[in-house]
Amino acid sequence: MYTVRKVTEDLYWVGGDDLRLELFENMHPIPRGVSYNSYLLLDEKTVLFDAVDWEITQDFIRNIELVLDGRPLDYLIVNHMEPDHCGSIEELIIRYPKIKIISSEKSFMLMHQFNYHVDGHEDQVQEGDTRNFGKHTVTFVAAPMVHWPEVLMTYDITSGILFSADAFGSFGALGGALFADEVNFDRDWIDDARRYYTNIVGKYGPFVQSALQKAGTIDIKMICPLHGPVWRKDFGYLLDKYDKWSRYEPEEKGVVIIFGSMYGNTQFAAQALATRLCDRGMTNVKVYDVSSTHISYLISETFRASNIVLACPTFNLGIYPPMKNYLIDLQALNVQNRTFTLIENGSWAPKSGALMAEFLEEELKRMTVMDETMSINSSLKEIDEPDLDSIVEALLEAVKE
Ligand code: FEO
Repeated sequence: MYTVRKVTEDLYWVGGDDLRLELFENMHPIPRGVSYNSYLLLDEKTVLFDAVDWEITQDFIRNIELVLDGRPLDYLIVNHMEPDHCGSIEELIIRYPKIKIISSEKSFMLMHQFNYHVDGHEDQVQEGDTRNFGKHTVTFVAAPMVHWPEVLMTYDITSGILFSADAFGSFGALGGALFADEVNFDRDWIDDARRYYTNIVGKYGPFVQSALQKAGTIDIKMICPLHGPVWRKDFGYLLDKYDKWSRYEPEEKGVVIIFGSMYGNTQFAAQALATRLCDRGMTNVKVYDVSSTHISYLISETFRASNIVLACPTFNLGIYPPMKNYLIDLQALNVQNRTFTLIENGSWAPKSGALMAEFLEEELKRMTVMDETMSINSSLKEIDEPDLDSIVEALLEAVKE
């Protein structure tokens, strides 16, 4: 049995899905699973583009054996050596002892660091080098920090296929589909694609911009990433998202309200704001509890929307810890260029608003804090109405098209 998909006449997808893994990188929830993509070219030589995580190696080997149909595996090109793609590399060497591994100098250095025994199999290449396998000639495009420093994408000059490593990937198991045009990407995949990009590669916007510029100089017919669907049309849709994300430009005008609440009073304030915004006709409003929403979703939503409202109690004269954690993650991922509205709560010494403003303005880049704020004493009351109204008016104005 097999799970192979044909990509072109002589290229096959031989990767696999992992629906049993709960946390990608032991950190990010993946309720829809993840795919590890690997592609096998049958030319005069046989060439595998990247391998897979150890977890699905048995399925992977079955797929390879089926497609090779008795031929040896001549080459493995490693575009990205992170263990979710290189976990099966030694198994390939054991099964195909004459295999040559084509990759960058840094990639081989990292393979040795990770204790992958590749001695005697190395064929080191750098950007601009070419390799011919019969009909197909490939060249290599450096894409450092998309997502690790060793990354070399491969461009098949003959077919116009870009093997893009982690770039243009997504969380989510493929479930039998392979191409982005076989699924409703904008309905079912974009949130996971955004959450994947923003949390895995989001920090490295300038490097992604550089990779996009290089991609703009080659004639791409198909994009084969290491996770998620393969792209063979509608590149503009995907490239536009990547361009916005990597420039830290909001994808949409809209309001994301992130609240922390110990007893429900700050939650009530957040809901009161959301209700008024929707009542006034705003259609792009989302509300999240910072304590129960995994931070990867909050980061992704922060990349998506133009305006973020943060509402939380003062805790031990500081910022409510789950909200502080969100702010620190924003900083770690280099998120920039968003407009924040701040709502604080405090029963005897409200300070969280001023502290959040200080963090946003001093620890992060290009963040705007709106003048309109609200400081609640324990619970929202009539006395707070004017401040709430002024926030509503300011947000309506901010997201107006
Ligand atoms: Fe899918 Fe950066 O590894």
